[in-house]
Amino acid sequence: MSKILANDGIDATGKMILEKAGHEVITEKVSQDKLISEINAGNFSALTVRSATQVSKDVIDGCPGLKVIGRGGVGMDNIEVEYAKSKGIAVVNTPAASSNSVAELVFAHLFSLSRLLHFSNRIMPLEGNRIFGDIKKRCSDGLELRGKTIGIIGFGRIGQSVAKIALGCGMKVLAYDPFVKFAEIPIDIFGFEKHTVKIDTISLDDLLGQSHIITIHVPSGKMIGAVEIEKMKKGVVLLNTARGGVIDEAALLEGLDKGQISCAALDVFENEPMPNLALLRHDRISLSPHIGASTREAQERIGVELANKIIDALS
Ligand code: 3PG
Repeated sequence: MSKILANDGIDATGKMILEKAGHEVITEKVSQDKLISEINAGNFSALTVRSATQVSKDVIDGCPGLKVIGRGGVGMDNIEVEYAKSKGIAVVNTPAASSNSVAELVFAHLFSLSRLLHFSNRIMPLEGNRIFGDIKKRCSDGLELRGKTIGIIGFGRIGQSVAKIALGCGMKVLAYDPFVKFAEIPIDIFGFEKHTVKIDTISLDDLLGQSHIITIHVPSGKMIGAVEIEKMKKGVVLLNTARGGVIDEAALLEGLDKGQISCAALDVFENEPMPNLALLRHDRISLSPHIGASTREAQERIGVELANKIIDALS
């Protein structure tokens, strides 16, 4: 039996699997400054986190009893992975469990932006019964997604899930990924025969120049700055549900103000949990608070996968 601290929470099914395997799971959140002392005092062998808890070198050095670090989710940028491994600690994550939820969030933002719902939802509670006609006029300039070209930067699991929905919406799909030559996207519409669509990746410059909409799905790093934005079609729509900073926020604001970017969607921010107010208050940005993986379905898949990987790593 081992003790597991699920410091950023874990889905109930995942917790149950761990408990059935004989482990004790504690889900009370420990603040970052007390993490080392609480892990040692509680004799925890495993620590699970999402993106909030930082598993720094200090935490790893300070907790010699830790055998496993589990990340419920994809991004490991809050964990010193190589350092932990060099100290003999197993590090596991759940890379596939949330792809569909992130892809659906991309389209939640995209449908909202294309019909200006992000704007009408903000203005109508304040002015909807005073200037209804004016709001209607401003919101009557929407666009259909059908026939538009979507450029997907980063063509791994999430990028390919985005492509699948885009194809279903009748969009043309372009993709860029230095590590992927092509992908076969399964189109499995219920009750119909399964088909696949092969998408070859292209150069970043070609994607930037040809896409009406660009969505980013890389783990980290600055992919889009002022230079890349200049190469885009005028009036491009830009989405970031990957990581804060993947799109340079200052360049994004400048691109919006110059009209080079018509509108944007952000789920992630450079300075979480205190994003730049200029982004939050911009009337052409659709916003969400880093919830790409936060659906009930994805959280259950994450919990189950994480629990099984922790059980394996502890045995
Ligand atoms: C991920 O990397 O899995 C996502 O960014 C989700 O992060 P979260 O677990 O903090 O919601």
